[in-house]
Amino acid sequence: MKSFCDTRLEFFRFASFESLPVTPPDYEYLRKLLKYHSGLDLSADKQYLIESRLLPLSQKAGLSGISELVQKMKGGAASIATQVVEAMTTNETFFFRDKVPFEHFRDSIMPQILRARASRKSIRIWCAAGSTGQEPYSLATCLKEMSTAIAGWRIEILATDLSQEVLEKSRSGIYSQFEVQRGLPIQMLLKYFKQVGELWQINPDIRAMVQHRQLNLLHDFSALGAFDVIFCRNVLIYFDQDTKINTFNRLARATEPDGFLVLGAAETVVGLTDAFKPCPQRASLFRPGAARATPTKMPAVGVVAPKVAVMASL
Ligand SMILES: C[S@@+](CC[C@H](N)C(=O)[O-])C[C@H]1O[C@@H](n2cnc3c(N)ncnc32)[C@H](O)[C@@H]1O
Repeated sequence: MKSFCDTRLEFFRFASFESLPVTPPDYEYLRKLLKYHSGLDLSADKQYLIESRLLPLSQKAGLSGISELVQKMKGGAASIATQVVEAMTTNETFFFRDKVPFEHFRDSIMPQILRARASRKSIRIWCAAGSTGQEPYSLATCLKEMSTAIAGWRIEILATDLSQEVLEKSRSGIYSQFEVQRGLPIQMLLKYFKQVGELWQINPDIRAMVQHRQLNLLHDFSALGAFDVIFCRNVLIYFDQDTKINTFNRLARATEPDGFLVLGAAETVVGLTDAFKPCPQRASLFRPGAARATPTKMPAVGVVAPKVAVMASL
């Protein structure tokens, strides 16, 4: 699992040591592969990222380097391609990341949704790139804190991610001392976690509130149905503009007309689509617009599938 700090370190490691080169044709092949299978839009100067993430993978697979890794994929090694796509995801996350969206969730989103759903008493929440679980479990603890207001309600939290590796960690609900110190107030740590040796495990009742499922946002997710709240934070920043627009348009169709979309601090729909409208005075919060654009078919325009066997799990 790779964090933002890892990415910075990778850059400095690349900048300070001579490293094995990735050839321009291999780089081009990998760029297309990643864009097609995960939406990751690598600029022309990210060789250091490819090398620092894929050299360990090639070593682990007993290969001589990135060229051989690429040759294997061209020869149809789908499992290697899956590992390459996973290795290139950035999984940085922490509890109550950016704080404000969780305050909006508690003070603005939930009161409105509780009023609107008073007759059916059920709420659906989707964490669309939940990574190692800190985001969906932050939501689950917020809900636990409002247990009087939601007594008797059916509340679903679905956490999805492209990466099986992060989903496994999320399912386990086990975190290091460092991870629980990032964003989680100490009272909540003591209230909702149990110490197991040097690690902390989230309590079973909170864990049971979150369902997990592997899901690639590039693929059709209409079968999931409509959600009252979608958290889709810090993943669309890695996509190019066409892929972002396409994803927003499909997310709009997966959001109840009076529901909410919550994006990362650096993300917005403004200038991209009318499928969502920003909520005034509520940074990172969006509601479906009157116009729900028809999604274009994936992959986005100009993306050609590189030659590799079908990757069933992606
Ligand atoms: C930077 S993390 C964000 C985690 C969390 N939402 C947050 O803001 O703290 C981005 C996550 O998006 C996932 N991801 C990348 N591409 C994806 C795709 N095409 N479909 C679904 N998830 C994807 C990665 O595996 C990673 O776990």
